[in-house]
Amino acid sequence: MKSIQFPAIAMAILFIALCNNAFPQNQGETIFKQVCAACHTIGSGKLVGPDLANVHTRHTKEWIISFVKSSQSVIKSGDKYADSLFKAFNQVPMPDNPTLTNDQIEGIIAYITEKSSSPGTSTTKADLPPGDVHRGQELFVGNIRFANHGAACNSCHNVDMSGLVSGGALGKDLTQVVSRISVTGVQGVVAGLPFPQMKQAYESKPLTDQEIADVTAFLKEANDLSVSAQAGNDIGEKMLFGGISGAVLLLFLFSLFWIKRKQRTVNYTLFKRQISST
Ligand code: HEC
Ligand code: HEC
Repeated sequence: MKSIQFPAIAMAILFIALCNNAFPQNQGETIFKQVCAACHTIGSGKLVGPDLANVHTRHTKEWIISFVKSSQSVIKSGDKYADSLFKAFNQVPMPDNPTLTNDQIEGIIAYITEKSSSPGTSTTKADLPPGDVHRGQELFVGNIRFANHGAACNSCHNVDMSGLVSGGALGKDLTQVVSRISVTGVQGVVAGLPFPQMKQAYESKPLTDQEIADVTAFLKEANDLSVSAQAGNDIGEKMLFGGISGAVLLLFLFSLFWIKRKQRTVNYTLFKRQISST
């Protein structure tokens, strides 16, 4: 019964879709803004993912559809372009969209195509107020609660900074996230919640614009401190290397002496003395 009904329904949907050409594109805009805009702009530069302006000229429709459904499957299938794109974007995996239909994705492509010819209008969050680094840190570790009672970021993320308790490991370490995905990228993630675990944590308890600005300011500070500390750490690394090679050299010398001493056992000398005394 079901197997007869399903194609009939699918045909009906297809028929409606074909009759009404404008429909999928409007829907494309809505889906793009809801699902994709946290990580992609059309003509306003890269965020977490690449700028999608003219993406329809870079790939076939089929490629985009399978990539949007499951980017990791395309990468694992050995697609060289997808693999290098993944590496270029710091191996941030684009989330799968198994529930989007081909029609819906074609609607998104139609919207991207249309927007590509008139780029420049940003689809991301409007300018945020200036952020406060210290408040951002207190919010991040949970010393100050978020206004809407969302979880502290460090229940899932770690940031390496002196004086800071280490955080959870469900999400990535965010010490250098600003270098990885830029300030606007971070704001896009916190405002748009493209990752399922974060969506769950904050969808009904969103951060205020001020809180997003504060937390981002803190992450930028942590990023800058750790980048400059890395530059300074070179000296420490050299000393460590010197120490290790010194230790290896000493061990080598010890073993030389030891081999000489060990070549004849104590028993052997005793034995020899005994023999010569008889
Ligand atoms: C969590 C962030 C995120 C979300 C949400 C997201 N993407 Fe992506 N997207 C990426 C990243 C990162 C890449 C770069 C490739 C990679 O890392 O796998 C990418 C790459 C792409 C590419 C290939 C671009 C190129 O230049 O070749 C297309 C097409 C694309 N995304 C479309 C979409 C569409 C359509 C949506 C919404 C349904 C979407 N993405 C949602 C992060 C995201
Ligand atoms: C319930 C757990 C959870 C909480 C709470 C949470 N995150 Fe996330 N976050 C994740 C997961 C999972 C990802 C997906 C990618 C990953 O593994 O980092 C992620 C990704 C991110 C990314 C993108 C990282 C990258 O390198 O692309 C940023 C930025 C981020 N979170 C910031 C925050 C901030 C700021 C807060 C606090 C307001 C927060 N998160 C709270 C789980 C969480």
